[in-house]
Amino acid sequence: MFSKLIAPAFAVLAAISILVDAARTHNGHTTADRPKIVPFPYTTGKKFYDSPRRTRHCFVDALGNGQDDSDNILAAAKSCNNGGTIALLDDLYLIGKALDLTFLNHVDFDIQGTLKFIPDVAYWEANSFKFTFQGANTMILFGGEDINIFGSGKGTIDGSGQTWWDGYATNSSIYRPMMVGVSGMKGGTWSGLKMQNPPNWFQWVTDSNDIIYDNMNLQVFSMNKNSPKNTDGWDSYRSDNIIVQNSVVNNTDDCFSWKPNSTNIVVQNNQCTGSHGMSIGSLGQYQGVYDLVENVLIYNTTMTNVGSAARIKVYPDVNPNVPNNGASGGGIGMVNNITYDGMHINSADWAIELTQCYGQSNQTICSAYPSKLVITDVMFKNFDGVASKKYDPKVATLVCSSPLVCQCIHTKNINVKPPSGKPAQHVCKNLYRGFLEGLNCVDS
Ligand SMILES: *[C@@H]1O[C@H](CO)[C@@H](O)[C@H](O)[C@H]1NC(C)=O
Ligand SMILES: *[C@@H]1O[C@H](CO)[C@@H](O)[C@H](O)[C@H]1NC(C)=O
Ligand SMILES: *[C@@H]1O[C@H](CO)[C@@H](O)[C@H](O)[C@H]1NC(C)=O
Ligand SMILES: *[C@@H]1O[C@H](CO)[C@@H](O)[C@H](O)[C@H]1NC(C)=O
Ligand SMILES: *[C@@H]1O[C@H](CO)[C@@H](O)[C@H](O)[C@H]1NC(C)=O
Ligand SMILES: *[C@@H]1O[C@H](CO)[C@@H](O)[C@H](O)[C@H]1NC(C)=O
Repeated sequence: MFSKLIAPAFAVLAAISILVDAARTHNGHTTADRPKIVPFPYTTGKKFYDSPRRTRHCFVDALGNGQDDSDNILAAAKSCNNGGTIALLDDLYLIGKALDLTFLNHVDFDIQGTLKFIPDVAYWEANSFKFTFQGANTMILFGGEDINIFGSGKGTIDGSGQTWWDGYATNSSIYRPMMVGVSGMKGGTWSGLKMQNPPNWFQWVTDSNDIIYDNMNLQVFSMNKNSPKNTDGWDSYRSDNIIVQNSVVNNTDDCFSWKPNSTNIVVQNNQCTGSHGMSIGSLGQYQGVYDLVENVLIYNTTMTNVGSAARIKVYPDVNPNVPNNGASGGGIGMVNNITYDGMHINSADWAIELTQCYGQSNQTICSAYPSKLVITDVMFKNFDGVASKKYDPKVATLVCSSPLVCQCIHTKNINVKPPSGKPAQHVCKNLYRGFLEGLNCVDS
């Protein structure tokens, strides 16, 4: 009860109140407790951050009337950095400026309202945070050490994607940012948040480690005939020790996508609807570049109306007789120690799609120039449910470019049926069939 009100430093920041320690309520809203998040049932075997408690709150009052709240959110993040909580308890905050929050250190965000990005296509094209990899660019960036962002089941981040999907319908080069960027985050949790309608991917996680996502709810919905574009749930890059669990994703592209140098990642107890799959890759796209994806467990996933459920896509080497711009295969590296355990399928074109001939539809050429990115120690087990009609009676495809670069690929207890009720068939090429327990291999 002895909370102290510190006068805001600048008049322009009158919408921020900083209350030390005991304060729990502000303008009739009460702060939430930071949830305790534990990896379950599996973990990566590596340590996660044990955050100390925070000792002060910075409450941001939404300006309302269509005004941009981003300056106030930035100022609150600075004021409550190093041991505080930024409390966003009002119904709606608008974000009309690119927010660089990579300076964070021992700080929490208690989000109970909606953070909505203002859909100014030209502004974001000029001001989003740009990364070199695959043109990734984001509207907000979070980074730093020991950061917990929690939505307590009601906090929402809304990308206003409709504007970009509508724009895309007439101009497919429209510049579409990813929504949330996590860059250089060392130790953090994201939980109880709803995310909706990103213009492009939901989140781009780069150069980060020791992060847990729990109880997230990712949704896309269009108000007209223009469908959401490339709405990947998570894309990880140059990142280590990440868990995504107890989450629900309803989107139109990969549920989780492992890009180069993603290691020690456990994705468990999630439900994906509409997606292209739990997708490793594509990898090996750039000639001479080394890509690594290692130590991944995908456990207990429900996949509904998906293109592929378990997916690994790797480029072959390049055909020296064909002009190549250096960006369509020939990469080196390794996909190693990957386990898909427990996939419950309600309609998937492919329950398993493993290809080492990505971007090269001619199998003769793929086999003549096998991939330099080796795939080793992969297990697909405990799959059940029904595939889609698309390739009936085929339900899975495992196509390597050569058995020498595709080793120890195992299957066990694969019980996915085609809708026709015929015996399931599985395409198996250039890999040792002795490890493919329970598959009914066909050549094509
Ligand atoms: C399409 O969008 C791109 C990227 O903003 C822009 O450079 C180009 O001029 C647009 N094309 C048309 C026809 O509007
Ligand atoms: C997924 O989103 C689509 C489009 O908005 C909607 O029709 C469908 O009911 C949703 N499914 C689930 C499981 O949320
Ligand atoms: C990925 O890791 C490998 C091996 O450590 C390294 O050679 C390569 O440069 C890394 N790639 C990127 C994009 O950082
Ligand atoms: C699998 O995940 C679902 C949530 O998607 C959960 O309800 C269920 O208990 C999990 N089952 C196991 C065996 O962990
Ligand atoms: C394989 O990956 C899993 C999941 O990250 C990990 O628990 C296990 O220790 C890894 N195995 C080896 C031999 O590194
Ligand atoms: C695949 O490539 C081989 C070798 O270049 C060629 O002979 C064959 O016709 C190609 N097949 C198809 C279906 O294009």
